Amino acid sequence: MDMKTQHSALMQISAKPDITFTSGSGSYLYDAAGNAWLDFVQGWAVNTLGHCPEAVAQAICTQSRRLINPSPAFYNDQAIQLANRLTHLSGMDQVFFANSGAEANEGAIKLARKWGQLHRKGAWKIITFHNGFHGRTLATMSATGKPAFEPLFNPKVPGFTKVPFGDLEAVEAAIDEHTVAVMLEPIQGEAGVIPASHEFLQGLRRLTQEHGLLLMLDEVQTGIGRTGSLFCYQQHQIEPDVVTLGKGLGAGVPIAALMAKAHACCFEYGDQGGTFNGNPLVCAAALAVLEAVTSAGFLSQVQALSQHLSQGLEHLSTRFNLGKVRGAGLLLALDTGAIDAQALVKQALDAGLLLNAPRPHTLRFMPALNVSVPEIDKMLAILSPLFEQAAAQHS
Ligand SMILES: Cc1ncc(COP(=O)(O)O)c(C=O)c1O
Repeated sequence: MDMKTQHSALMQISAKPDITFTSGSGSYLYDAAGNAWLDFVQGWAVNTLGHCPEAVAQAICTQSRRLINPSPAFYNDQAIQLANRLTHLSGMDQVFFANSGAEANEGAIKLARKWGQLHRKGAWKIITFHNGFHGRTLATMSATGKPAFEPLFNPKVPGFTKVPFGDLEAVEAAIDEHTVAVMLEPIQGEAGVIPASHEFLQGLRRLTQEHGLLLMLDEVQTGIGRTGSLFCYQQHQIEPDVVTLGKGLGAGVPIAALMAKAHACCFEYGDQGGTFNGNPLVCAAALAVLEAVTSAGFLSQVQALSQHLSQGLEHLSTRFNLGKVRGAGLLLALDTGAIDAQALVKQALDAGLLLNAPRPHTLRFMPALNVSVPEIDKMLAILSPLFEQAAAQHS
């Protein structure tokens, strides 16, 4: 059977390059022939510690011989430990484990609606933001502000009022007696790495408190050290009521989390659940990830690597007259000016480098948090001649 025939058994949900990866290690992915790609996508900001990190592999291996899934009807030691660790680190009070970022956000939406029933006379509407991204379940697609989602799968789940990102007055104007929460990403990742300003986040915290609303932060992409602090909101001296995590929490193993302050933890028996939620196999993996990310010096190293990467990108920007470098930690973006970012991604792939273009003229960089300085330099060295060629074509 050739590769094409094999691919055809998969539902085709996006265009993929004709490569089949068979192994990975650290910052590299390999196909069966041993061809290597330097990976600055890392599972879409997922592989916190790179491909197949020893600590996670060991945790999974050990746990797989102890207990994989006793069912969510029973407590297990790994879920209890992980919930305690996360609440201690985040300042939240309780956790519900999920299997994906979308499921964690779906849980946050349900929690807000339940809270509205109990505490705000049945209020159920949630303010979300233009170009925000919260997942691909029907409710999270409805909460998402991505224009391409608008015509899809209608009718959508009602109850999401979308306003421009960064516009505090628009948020205030959108609040009515049915509003229960404001939900946003502290850095809009899929929109092209657009950070919320410090003033906006502080303003939202003040506004939601004044109006008695929940502030819900989607840290699925920004959480677990990605932006240089364990959670992005810690850089803005605010405490949200609800935080969702996914991606980096399991470093490639599917686990996500919905965390909330005690006053927002209002699920009752029967409101929420799921067969695989909080199983000890994935919780053991997440505990190993947290141990690495909270170890001495890890986050300051992420900040140093971020500085090195952003300086390299600034240098490219100046040299080829490109746009701005944005983001925080190891979630960075470079606007490519007139140059087609999708075409660059394709050329980079052919040159052995995996990159992502969330917008037609934006490249996004989301390497492993333990990427090395030589790997960053190698990535820049592959990218630089591609810009040179593209710039020559444009002049
Ligand atoms: C901010 C944000 N929220 C939610 C999601 C959805 O997560 P998942 O794909 O794990 O469902 C993503 C995925 O890209 C994301 O970036």
